[in-house]
Amino acid sequence: MELFYTLITGACGGLGGAFVKELAARGQPLYLTGRDEGKLAALKERLLHSHPALPVKTAVCDLADDFSRRALISRFAGENVRFCRLVYATGADIQKPLSEYTEEKIAFQARANFEGAVSLSRAVLERSGEMPELLFVGSVSGLYPMPYFALYSATKKALWQFAAALRAELKGRAKVTCVQPGAIPTREDVKENIRTQGLWGKLAALPPEAVARKSLNALAKNRRSPVLGFWNKLMHVSTALLPLSWKMRFIAKKWSKTRKDAF
Ligand SMILES: NC(=O)c1ccc[n+]([C@@H]2O[C@H](COP(=O)([O-])OP(=O)(O)OC[C@H]3O[C@@H](n4cnc5c(N)ncnc54)[C@H](OP(=O)(O)O)[C@@H]3O)[C@@H](O)[C@H]2O)c1
Repeated sequence: MELFYTLITGACGGLGGAFVKELAARGQPLYLTGRDEGKLAALKERLLHSHPALPVKTAVCDLADDFSRRALISRFAGENVRFCRLVYATGADIQKPLSEYTEEKIAFQARANFEGAVSLSRAVLERSGEMPELLFVGSVSGLYPMPYFALYSATKKALWQFAAALRAELKGRAKVTCVQPGAIPTREDVKENIRTQGLWGKLAALPPEAVARKSLNALAKNRRSPVLGFWNKLMHVSTALLPLSWKMRFIAKKWSKTRKDAF
């Protein structure tokens, strides 16, 4: 019987890892990518320990690097692998003023967050069976322009817009969902950031396992771009009619105080 794999990018990350666990528990063949060979090997070993019969493939790929992406795509052809699903959980949430970026950092963040998603969508669709599923991890940060988080929020908006357009191109032939989660306590710096937000942080943050489950449910229902979590939805709806300039002033004041760059 032909196997159809789910390609998970950012598989060694906090949210990517939650997708891996959830889909492994559902017995889905997994094709996992990340930048670190050692981390990928350890992840595969853990998976095969808990799910010995699960088909698991791994491949190192720097999605911000054109050559590395081409090598991965050639590898798919060499292995003649077939896909039923893409889960694009890669993302670099660098947060700082543009003046503190280098050219390299700009290219890295834009490519990893957006270009890689476009490129792998095409690769997966080319090697898919009937009704493939594409899931992109956006962010509520893509709902508004965010001063001091400008490039991140722009890439997430681009991802959302790309997914929505592709969904229309593939209507009736594929499921395409771009979820918009709020804060997810994954890395230590993100957890610290959530703690500094006090009550709002506590209310709005969702654990990675919940985000993975809700995202896969939204994909199964072929929803376009759901905001995940009650408090994030409420915030989105209740601020929809406020003038953009007010929202931006609020965001600028709040976000100018912190920096984040784990990449
Ligand atoms: N945490 C939050 O509060 C939050 C909120 C909303 C949306 N999100 C989104 O959720 C997704 C997962 O974030 P997370 O919190 O789980 O962060 P994370 O633990 O840092 O995971 C990010 C993943 O992206 C991978 N990655 C980064 N650059 C890459 C590149 N050039 N090539 C290949 N892989 C690359 C990393 O791979 P390595 O393992 O090789 O480092 C890592 O596995 C991201 O898209 C993020 O924007 C997060």
